[in-house]
Amino acid sequence: MVAVCWKLPICFLLCQAVSGGAGRDGHYVAAVYEHESILSPAPAARVERRAALQLMGRNLDIYEQQVLAAARQGAQIIVFPEDGIHGFNFTRSSIYPYLDFIPYSHPGKWNPCREPYLYNDTEVVQRLSCMALQNKIFLVANLGTKQPCERREPRCPPDGRFQFNTNVALGADGALLATYRKHNLYFESAFDTPAQPDHALFDTPFAGTFGMFTCFDILFYEPAVSLIRQYNLKQIVYPTAWMNQLPLLSAVEFQQAFSTAFNVNILAANIHHPTLGMTGSGIYTPVKSFIYHNMESYGGKLIVAEIPVTTADYKTNLESNERFRENLHGSCRTSTSTSLDDEVCFKEQEETAGGVSEKGEGKEQSPPSFYAEMMYDNFTFVPLWGEKGELQVCANSLCCYLNYQKAVLTDELYALGVFDGLHTVHGTYYVQACALVKCGGLSFSTCGQEVTDATALIDFQLWGNMSTPYIFPLLLTSGITLDFADHMGWKNNHYFLSKNRTSAGLLTAALYGRWYEKD
Ligand SMILES: *[C@@H]1O[C@H](CO)[C@@H](O)[C@H](O)[C@H]1NC(C)=O
Ligand SMILES: *[C@@H]1O[C@H](CO)[C@@H](O)[C@H](O)[C@H]1NC(C)=O
Ligand SMILES: *[C@@H]1O[C@H](CO)[C@@H](O)[C@H](O)[C@H]1NC(C)=O
Ligand SMILES: *[C@@H]1O[C@H](CO)[C@@H](O)[C@H](O)[C@H]1NC(C)=O
Ligand SMILES: *[C@@H]1O[C@H](CO)[C@@H](O)[C@H](O)[C@H]1NC(C)=O
Repeated sequence: MVAVCWKLPICFLLCQAVSGGAGRDGHYVAAVYEHESILSPAPAARVERRAALQLMGRNLDIYEQQVLAAARQGAQIIVFPEDGIHGFNFTRSSIYPYLDFIPYSHPGKWNPCREPYLYNDTEVVQRLSCMALQNKIFLVANLGTKQPCERREPRCPPDGRFQFNTNVALGADGALLATYRKHNLYFESAFDTPAQPDHALFDTPFAGTFGMFTCFDILFYEPAVSLIRQYNLKQIVYPTAWMNQLPLLSAVEFQQAFSTAFNVNILAANIHHPTLGMTGSGIYTPVKSFIYHNMESYGGKLIVAEIPVTTADYKTNLESNERFRENLHGSCRTSTSTSLDDEVCFKEQEETAGGVSEKGEGKEQSPPSFYAEMMYDNFTFVPLWGEKGELQVCANSLCCYLNYQKAVLTDELYALGVFDGLHTVHGTYYVQACALVKCGGLSFSTCGQEVTDATALIDFQLWGNMSTPYIFPLLLTSGITLDFADHMGWKNNHYFLSKNRTSAGLLTAALYGRWYEKD
């Protein structure tokens, strides 16, 4: 084990950490694999089970190599993406030969590798179980499953079976520990939604309890948020097949924001298909992450990283709030030592917004607001014209505020946008967002377009009076890299995010709020 390990230079530190004993130093080693799946050339055509198994076998061969590679690097758990084994673009009937049967009762009692004879049509889960067992590693993968039903059952489909988009978690001994059936399907006509959302959990000796959900689920309350809150989870496994959408919903950007917002570690494995906009996987903690995003090259990518079991609470405590107070106060026109109420400062800013401000040069009059479509939503924007300034923009019940100073001046156009409404394209969900974005070009109509590179460095404080407590702080920099806020958190019913000096040019800094009750 060690000899193999030493051959891999990147593994040097990991080996040292692992040799100290799994979990003893409060860390564990996780792996995620971004997989370029071998797809059926004609997914809508009905094939025999044997042909389906053959195609899936080619993907499973790659999984097997990656499980071995991960285990050699000391990984205790590995996560594979959604649709990685069977692919996508099936119909309800054409996916049928690709489906395994999975018993949903008695979790932990069945070991598919050791007891393959217990159920028919379990070839895929048997192979996954054997990989886990042979490499003594916890394994999470996504596959299609079937569950026969009686046609007189009220929800039973006319073809007499349920078809689910399912994650399985297998223990290091190969036992089937938990199954999760995707609840928020994303236009997947091949699959059914389970009657009740699954709350899927499994225990590990190295990092306690993990919860799991899939892809589009990350945007909804059930089961993702309710699971984390109900069981106070700190570890999440997350198979996904996510099509990136800038500026606010790139995979790595949102995965990091989710980890930070809920103070959880996330092991996220995405499919790798750049032509479909699919890439972006990572091992995330609330304050640091190990990510992969690559639109250029083909093939898969294994990420192995050691992370702390317990997540350090992001600095939303009193100390950081005190600093907010100082900074905001410094930016107010009048500051008295007796009044430390930031609400007063906001009001003063509002009053000066239309007139002359002592601070913002080139701000003789407030910049014009305009509408532009961002990710199919009608955002209201104001441009960042001066070298520095204080901006405000409102829509419905949400007002967004920005104090900024450009540290590296460029001719790029940036704008502060607000949206407070129901998003209805490619899914229906209510969003409250304050977003500082780089525009696609120099005209207003380009604000909200997809941009991947930027050079401007902007020091800023961004805040808004959101009506939902569920705020995902986004901070995306040039080349789809991530950065972390200096401070963030609630104060006086406003959510704040501040950053001085991003590590690369700024693409997006946003407070993406989800108001679940209004969906
Ligand atoms: C799957 O569908 C997408 C569009 O929904 C299409 O772009 C892609 O080419 C299809 N892939 C295959 C393998 O059929
Ligand atoms: C599996 O299928 C075969 C052939 O259809 C059948 O004879 C056998 O009873 C089945 N086994 C189980 C465990 O359902
Ligand atoms: C965006 O919203 C504003 C205000 O409601 C409206 O005037 C404008 O026509 C909308 N733009 C589009 C493209 O729908
Ligand atoms: C947010 O602030 C604006 C401006 O002060 C106000 O009109 C709006 O009602 C506030 N929204 C909420 C939810 O308090
Ligand atoms: C940001 O950081 C730089 C370098 O540390 C410092 O010179 C500058 O004053 C800071 N700006 C703000 C607004 O705090």
